[in-house]
Amino acid sequence: MAHINKPVPRIDQFISLNEPTIGTAYSKDIYPQNANLPELFKPLTLRGVTFNNRIFVSPMCQYSSDNGHATDWHFVHIGGYATRGLGAICMEATAVVPEGRISPQDAGLWTDSQMAPLKRIVAFAHSQGAKIGVQLAHAGRKASTYAPWVHADMAKTWKAPTYVAGKDEGGWPDHVYAPSEIQFSDQYPKPNALTEQQIADLTDAFVKAAERCKEIGFDFIEVHAAHGYLQHEFTSPLSNTRTDQYGGSLENRLRFPLQVTKKLRAAWDKPLFIRISATDWAEGPEKDPATGEWKQWGIEQSTIYVGELKKLGVDLIDCSSGGNWVQQKITVGPGYQVPFAEALKKAHPDIPIGAVGLITEPEQAESYLKEGKADAVFLARELIRNPHWAIHAAQKLGVAVKPANQYERGWADVLTPARPGESSHRRAEEQGTGKEHFEQKKSSPL
Ligand SMILES: Cc1cc2nc3c(=O)[nH]c(=O)nc-3n(C[C@H](O)[C@H](O)[C@H](O)COP(=O)(O)O)c2cc1C
Repeated sequence: MAHINKPVPRIDQFISLNEPTIGTAYSKDIYPQNANLPELFKPLTLRGVTFNNRIFVSPMCQYSSDNGHATDWHFVHIGGYATRGLGAICMEATAVVPEGRISPQDAGLWTDSQMAPLKRIVAFAHSQGAKIGVQLAHAGRKASTYAPWVHADMAKTWKAPTYVAGKDEGGWPDHVYAPSEIQFSDQYPKPNALTEQQIADLTDAFVKAAERCKEIGFDFIEVHAAHGYLQHEFTSPLSNTRTDQYGGSLENRLRFPLQVTKKLRAAWDKPLFIRISATDWAEGPEKDPATGEWKQWGIEQSTIYVGELKKLGVDLIDCSSGGNWVQQKITVGPGYQVPFAEALKKAHPDIPIGAVGLITEPEQAESYLKEGKADAVFLARELIRNPHWAIHAAQKLGVAVKPANQYERGWADVLTPARPGESSHRRAEEQGTGKEHFEQKKSSPL
């Protein structure tokens, strides 16, 4: 048998084939410590697509697109995740129409020329065995705003007086749209209320973007219905005061997001995720106890919404919160949004739920899945700090997973078979594997 550096088949350059796929737990026959896999490393199959583990890259705007086109920044940023064994990569909020971008440099899928750079990214992710999707979005009344570092610097040495990106800054402040003419705050654009025709056109724009996703080869689509962007604005009584069929009753407020979901489901046969905000975090109750009137968006309505999404064939709910009420008061702490995921899971045990928000530790993430509070975790900031988090998590939880071929030498302790009843992590510590590996490296013919 010839021993060769096997190539990924059917692509036009040499890329080393990973067997098994990066981020997959090895068979227990080779690594006995994998006999009882932690939930994080159990594959999840949705609509025929198998995610190797349950550690998902949460969508993260990069404010780095060129008229909505992905650039080499995205190739490197997303490519880095593709080589590091995450279960799924969800690319950032990607606008279905130009005026649906949050900032002038946001990603888009409103025109065919935006497909080519995404095809390159998706092809590379697939060459690494990664599953990759995109978050389709419309920013609603929070469109035409600055990228965070354009609004203020992190060192707090300066701050712009407004969030609005003006016409001379690449913005479109007079063409910002929302369910109603209610500003997010006086530092945000004044939105125009969408007409019913514009709502119908936007629904079609989501479908057209999904058609492009098909051609690009994405494995899943996530719809952004959270964080105070257009779909969330429709659902919440704080931002939707319409008196037509799209406002007023809960049924009417849900009409637009559900109509988009229904059409997307018909157009897209791979996994469809919806990210929702489970609450507005506004003061006072969700429902007026005396009149029964809904006062703000909250978990009670979210539970009904998820029931409707489930009926339409949605495959996973990515449960976030907030973003629609400028005075929101969030009690932030580790896993602060997990109670909402848990509530949805309890009400709808038959639809997978993703948890997100300050999930940083492997044991913490594992506990949410083990306790049945969620089926997958989405991580954002922790993955900025540590793109290798999945392999670190495997190490910490004592699982042997496949790193990229090229990176295996950095993970010798993950790959060393442990004796039965002993975790590879503990053994690595006891035996000082790191040092040995260094010694070995020093003496090996580099
Ligand atoms: C740089 C950055 C960009 C983000 N962009 C998006 C986005 O495009 N869509 C979205 O739904 N959430 C976005 N978020 C929110 C994250 O997906 C995530 O929900 C949030 O950061 C909480 O998770 P974390 O504590 O793991 O960071 C972004 C967060 C960060 C830090």
